[in-house]
Parts: sequence; structure tokens; C-alpha cells
Amino acid sequence: MRDIVLLIGGGGREHAIARSLADSEVDLYACAGNRNPGIAALATDFETLDTSDTDAVVDYADEIDATIAVVGPEGPLAEGVVDELEASGVYAFGPREADARIETDKAFQRRFMAEQDIPGCPDFETFDDSEAACEYIDEYDGDLAIKPAGLTGGKGVKVIGDQVTAEEGKEYIRESDYDRIVLEERLVGEEFTVQAFVANGSVRTAPAVQDHKRAYEGDEGPNTGGMGSYSAPGVDLPFMREGDYDRAVEIVEATVEALDDYKGILYGQFMLTADGPKVVEFNARFGDPEAMNTLPVLETDFLDVLTAARNGEELPALSFDERATVCKYAVPEGYPTDPKAGAKVQVDEESADALLYYASVDERDDGIYTTTSRSFAVVGRADSIADAETIAEDALAIAGEDGLHIRHDIGTEDLVQRRIDHMTELRDE
Ligand code: AMP
Ligand code: GLY
Repeated sequence: MRDIVLLIGGGGREHAIARSLADSEVDLYACAGNRNPGIAALATDFETLDTSDTDAVVDYADEIDATIAVVGPEGPLAEGVVDELEASGVYAFGPREADARIETDKAFQRRFMAEQDIPGCPDFETFDDSEAACEYIDEYDGDLAIKPAGLTGGKGVKVIGDQVTAEEGKEYIRESDYDRIVLEERLVGEEFTVQAFVANGSVRTAPAVQDHKRAYEGDEGPNTGGMGSYSAPGVDLPFMREGDYDRAVEIVEATVEALDDYKGILYGQFMLTADGPKVVEFNARFGDPEAMNTLPVLETDFLDVLTAARNGEELPALSFDERATVCKYAVPEGYPTDPKAGAKVQVDEESADALLYYASVDERDDGIYTTTSRSFAVVGRADSIADAETIAEDALAIAGEDGLHIRHDIGTEDLVQRRIDHMTELRDE
């Protein structure tokens, strides 16, 4: 019997998931708050609904007789969509609400790491009281990262000594009135992501990816959901040394083991410091953009992973095409602080060597328009990062950039070399 897969979510990450299932023996259905034209073209049916409304998702899953659900974004995980789908008899590849706390509650995440002795945890303290947090900043010897405990779409963290001064950090805490705040040691180094496919005790990790959180070229400007990312042929990134990737994988494996019966994707965000990889955060889902680096080079059929997970079996070993990838997002001008929606997007899905992924766009009768979130991404694949970057740029040139902003530096030889030099400098100090 063909599986009926319900994909939940409508961003670039979910378009990548849809494409990875498009050639498999499945009937694909999708639901999201925004109609993603790329997913809609691949799916038998696309339902527009609020994916954080778990009843609406479960009703739709029942209507289409879904046999497997794949949850893309964190919002529905935080609402317990997996628990609800399971209660109605649909296998969901994603963690239950309690396990998703590894992402949705940063205070829980840090305490969990400390209690379970998981390596790579920075020094941290959690605060329910703004004034106590401000006092801690005054007394702490060194720079701190200020993190609201709940979900902020990657935009809530402020790092003292990097984006803000200690005084600005305290002002941020006092003004923003978060219920709970984590203050932790500022980690210095280069960031990388390791995503793992997890179920039934199996942990299968993907090659490392580097995302670019800052809005502007040269890593300036506010944090975003991620402006683009690259991966190299093989599992390592050019700034990593032997053993770094393995250390990160060990941390992911130790976390899965401590979580007991975790299933879905576990995403480890690491800072490679002079002392090796430290955990910046965990996410309970694929990264966006990182899914667009990983899934296009996954040679194993993602459906085989999903069905093994559902059937209670060991997950298949994963095989990856040993090519580099470069992903660049086009976002609306002014994103993320003052995004201007309504620009017409010109993309030509067929003409370029690159892969095109739609994210948050508004499909109207006369074309596709930007919203206030990331619009679309292009991904180049090649034997080197530099060649993959050229392919991505060629595709963007075709798309045009009216009303859009793109970080053209992502994946360039120059920027990659700066990452290598940065790590060499830190490690040889
Ligand atoms: P998060 O939402 O936890 O991913 O944080 C967003 C971004 O803030 C990360 O990608 C890092 O660039 C930065 N960040 C978070 N925690 C730290 C830390 N302890 N030290 C330095 N930078 C951090
Ligand atoms: N790329 C960062 C994230 O997905 O959270």
C-alpha cells in the first residue's frame, strides 16, 4: 500500500522535504499557513490552515487518511501536534511536545544538558526576574549571551560584546519583559550545524552545514532566521579539523540517549571554539536553510527513513552525494526589522542549474509576491563550494533583485577563507 504522507509547514525547508519525497512511492499532501507554490506543485492537495492549530491539522490528516506526518517547523511541535496526531492514529515523524522542549524551552535545554552531563554545555544561569538577570550581568566576569527561554524565530538572542554592550543588554532585558531568560557564557568561534535523523534508538547524522544568521554581508546587522548556508563535499567544513565533526556527533548521540525515546530530526547548533565544539542550541526539526543543503545531497530515499521510523525498525544507513552545496535566500528589503512586502518575484524554476525553493511568498493571479518573511532560496551543487556558489549566483541573476535583499558573500572563497583564518587564529593563540 502506498503511504499517504502529510507534510506540515510551508517554508523553504518544507519545499526541500517535499522535493525529497517527490520521486518516492508516496501520495504527498501538504498544509501550511501560506500557500507555497513549490510544494503545491508537488502535492496532490495543499490545504491552507494554521499549523499551530493542532485540531485543524489532525482533521486534515484524518480527511486524507494520512499514514505518516512529517512536521517541518517548530511552532506545531511546541503545540503538541505530534501527540495529537498519534492520539488519532497517525504516525508523526517529529518529537512529542515534551521532547520538543529541547528547542522550545532554552532554560530546560541547558538544565537538561547539565543534569545529564552532556558535553559541550557553556556556563549558564536561568532567571525569572529581570533585575536579578541584570545584576548577574554586572557581576559576571566576561561577556554573556542573553536568550529568552521561549521561541523567538532565532531573533531574540543578544550577545554582549558582539551585538550589544552590557548596558544595552540590560536595557533589552528590562524593556522586553520576557518571562524567563537564560544568560550564558559567550562562545567565540565559528558556528556549524549537525542534523540527525532519529528514531527507535538510531541516530543518523548528516554532513555539517554553516548557516549565516546576520542580515547583512560581513556578518553585520540583526539576527535573522538564516540568510543562507553552505556545506562541503564530505562531512566537514573547511574551517574544521579532524575530530571536530565526531565530537559534535558524540554530543548529538549523548543527547538522544538522554532524551529516551526521541524521534524526528535533532538539530545541533555548535560553536567551534578553541576548546572544540560547544552547543549553541538544539532544535527539534530540520534547519531552515540547512535542510536545503542536506536533503538535495541525501541519496538514501527519505521515505525509507520515514517508514523504518514508523515501523519501529532501525533507520537505514544514510548515504550522501559528496558534493558541496551553497544556499542563498532572497528576503524582502528591510528584513527582518522592517520588511517591505509586495514586491513581485521573478523566478524561473526551469532555466538554471540551481534548485529553487519557495518560502513565504504570496501567489496571486498575476504572479508571485513577497511577504514580510524570507521569500525564496536558490541552491547550487558542485564539486567545490566556489562552483556551487557560482551556480547559486547565476540563478539569482536570472531572478532579479527588485525589492529583495540577498547576502552575496555566502559561500564565496573570501568569506570561507575568513572562517578558516578565524579558527586558525583562535586555535593557535
Ligand atoms: P539561538 O536562537 O540560540 O540559535 O541563537 C541565535 C544566534 O545567537 C546563534 O546562532 C549565535 O550566533 C548566537 N548565540 C547564541 N548563543 C550564543 C552564545 N552562548 N555565545 C555566542 N553566540 C551565541
Ligand atoms: N537555521 C537556523 C534554524 O533553522 O533555526
